[in-house]
Amino acid sequence: MTATASGSPSHLLTMPMDWEAEFYAATDWERGAYVGGEDMADHLATFFDRVGVPDSVGSVGCGPAAAEFAVAEAYPDTEFHCYDIAPSVVAANREKAREEGLGNVHFAVDSLPDLAVDDEFDLVYCVAVLYFVEDVEDALRALYDRVAPGGHLVFTYPNSYLRAWVRDLPEGQKREAFSLVEAGENLLTYDDLEDVLGTRPRSYWTLVDARDEEYASRRAPAVFVPKRA
Ligand SMILES: C[S@@+](CC[C@H](N)C(=O)[O-])C[C@H]1O[C@@H](n2cnc3c(N)ncnc32)[C@H](O)[C@@H]1O
Repeated sequence: MTATASGSPSHLLTMPMDWEAEFYAATDWERGAYVGGEDMADHLATFFDRVGVPDSVGSVGCGPAAAEFAVAEAYPDTEFHCYDIAPSVVAANREKAREEGLGNVHFAVDSLPDLAVDDEFDLVYCVAVLYFVEDVEDALRALYDRVAPGGHLVFTYPNSYLRAWVRDLPEGQKREAFSLVEAGENLLTYDDLEDVLGTRPRSYWTLVDARDEEYASRRAPAVFVPKRA
């Protein structure tokens, strides 16, 4: 269905991409972090150093969990619980964890905005996922609800700069995954984040010394929000 701008009747709104059918089952996907590549494991470890090593991490929309696998190996006392909407990446990750003998990283199918898991984690991590979620404010609330008191939520979110970038892509390079962003249906501002979460976010890129990296651009802000102890 053609993307329509907000204000359209709800039955005409853009559908999110089906990641299982259109990506994991349809392509020879490779392991890696979508934003920030191999740096993301170092950034996550730096975050641990700066705010304290969490006992538990909940990663939502983990995909191949590149950073999570690397950091789980380096921090064996931290339990990583990783979730994704696509069953095949969850199965592949379980197999990898088993093969590598990693007992502190666990995978399950779950999806935003209505997460089935109701556990709390010291760190909830959701990178390069909200771009693809329709009810983005409900999703943010669900993520923040899973943060234990004294813990943190780290996430990236879709904004108007990302929308401009998607719209400027040449026709042949348009990415179906970004149809919600292109239609402007799930964009958030910094003020929106504060309104939804009740706390002003701070820049994750700045905290982990990644501010000057190319991927830390205006179109891919990464932020973190503490939760009161
Ligand atoms: C671009 S990948 C990012 C993966 C990983 N977080 C990273 O940084 O590399 C987006 C992931 O989000 C998952 N996803 C998309 N919509 C989701 C939803 N509503 N709930 C949970 N996961 C979702 C996809 O299956 C995919 O694995």
